[in-house]
Amino acid sequence: MSSILIIDDDDQLRKSFHKVLSQEGYNVQGAASGEAGLGIIRKESPDLVILDIRLPGMSGMETFQAIREIEGKLPVIIMTAYGTTETAIEATKMGAFDYVLKPFDIPDMLTLIGQALEAGRFMRTPVEMDVIPEKASKEAIIGRSKPMQDVYKAIGRVSSTDATVLIRGESGTGKELVARAIYQYSLRADKPFLVINCVAIPENLLESELFGYEKGAFTGASHRRVGKIEQAHKGTVFLDEIGDMPFSIQAKILRLLQERSIERLGGRGTIPVDVRIIAATNRDLETALNEGRFRDDLYYRLKVVTILLPPLRERTSDIPLLTEYFISRYASELGMDNRGITKEAMDLLTRHPWPGNIRELGNAIQKALIFNRGTPIHTEEIAQAISGENLGTLPDETTDQVVRKWAREALSVKNEKNLFDSCMDNIASILISEALILSGGNRSRAAKLLGISRPTLHSKIEKYNLKIETSVK
Ligand SMILES: Nc1ncnc2c1ncn2[C@@H]1O[C@H](COP(=O)(O)OP(=O)(O)OP(=O)(O)O)[C@@H](O)[C@H]1O
Ligand SMILES: [Mg+2]
Repeated sequence: MSSILIIDDDDQLRKSFHKVLSQEGYNVQGAASGEAGLGIIRKESPDLVILDIRLPGMSGMETFQAIREIEGKLPVIIMTAYGTTETAIEATKMGAFDYVLKPFDIPDMLTLIGQALEAGRFMRTPVEMDVIPEKASKEAIIGRSKPMQDVYKAIGRVSSTDATVLIRGESGTGKELVARAIYQYSLRADKPFLVINCVAIPENLLESELFGYEKGAFTGASHRRVGKIEQAHKGTVFLDEIGDMPFSIQAKILRLLQERSIERLGGRGTIPVDVRIIAATNRDLETALNEGRFRDDLYYRLKVVTILLPPLRERTSDIPLLTEYFISRYASELGMDNRGITKEAMDLLTRHPWPGNIRELGNAIQKALIFNRGTPIHTEEIAQAISGENLGTLPDETTDQVVRKWAREALSVKNEKNLFDSCMDNIASILISEALILSGGNRSRAAKLLGISRPTLHSKIEKYNLKIETSVK
């Protein structure tokens, strides 16, 4: 469970943060002054700090600087009001994760908190390489096949340089893990590592996210904003899914690589920045080049140092090792004993083509464990887990038809005010009760299966008044 520290002298605000964040499953602490906050950071090392810039006694900025000294990679979100934005901007230039203007929207704040926690985890959790599965941590690159040995060597070679690296490979092959490993073994390991996902951010926002803007650069630019690249000064920026980066922004990245400087939107001068770029893509860049969607000058510049991650079907010898790793990791996460896997089930795993690569294998093992009833994992559970995977990717017309029929019935028969909500509740309660049945009544496993937190599941069970048949604990 992630822990968050709120430093703000406003008791009311700390209280409401406490309520909202605890409901989300976070462990929350509060401090009314910078001094008290620093004490908590030293003692309990939280995962994220939300810091008000205006504080009695030690100022927000002084507190921020002190936090940097105690734990340089601890993500900090600054809260500011009109009148103190300049200070907040200064703090982002010095590496604060972001700042928000009071009053803020709770959903926006929760999204930002999620992102900041992930950034902190990326910087602070080491990625191990080539370790024994049972001893490996959650963040490890597993595999001993020849192609993986080459990957380890490549990581070793490029880490200690400042070279731009391009990581290529199909979806789920571990590109992000490799990017983090390069960062952690690099000379910049104690400086920031910021991830920009070029597809997740809408095109019109991506440019300002990367490069920042000046006040008045466009309608709505009410104050200056420092971009991620400037924020990562002296550190590393991971441009994920670079194959999907809009053409116009590609030119600016090329310029950053060549001239080591950026320009904020609406800015009048260039700003020198010292960042190392690691990029990744699962796209066929050569086709994109031919179709005019990717700049050839950027392509040639990026591809000088390329690490290619082979698909899992080309290194099936790694499947048993990866399987062992995922069983031991997920069994302990689910609070189960590790009872291994039968030979037949392992054979089935080695024969499957794994179009979704290691991500798909990991998901399948996790599901198989959830279906498991305390014996070694056997063939049926694997088959069930794999076919479940496929259901998600293939259009399943019969399910669709059934749901449509049900929807039409609901729309024609019912004449109630809250039809939409009651239908949604109906579906939710069916989904939850099925998850509970599949997991034998085990709430942690059912929550995992549903992709929601345990407290959220608990509140829905209460809400829908669901009965649970427990077969295993
Ligand atoms: N060699 C490996 N050993 C252990 N776990 C791995 C390995 N490679 C990938 N994983 C795990 O598989 C999942 C997918 O990996 P990752 O996110 O790095 O893939 P990706 O190549 O970035 O995929 P995408 O193109 O879809 O973004 C992650 O949970 C990661 O921890
Ligand atoms: Mg990725």
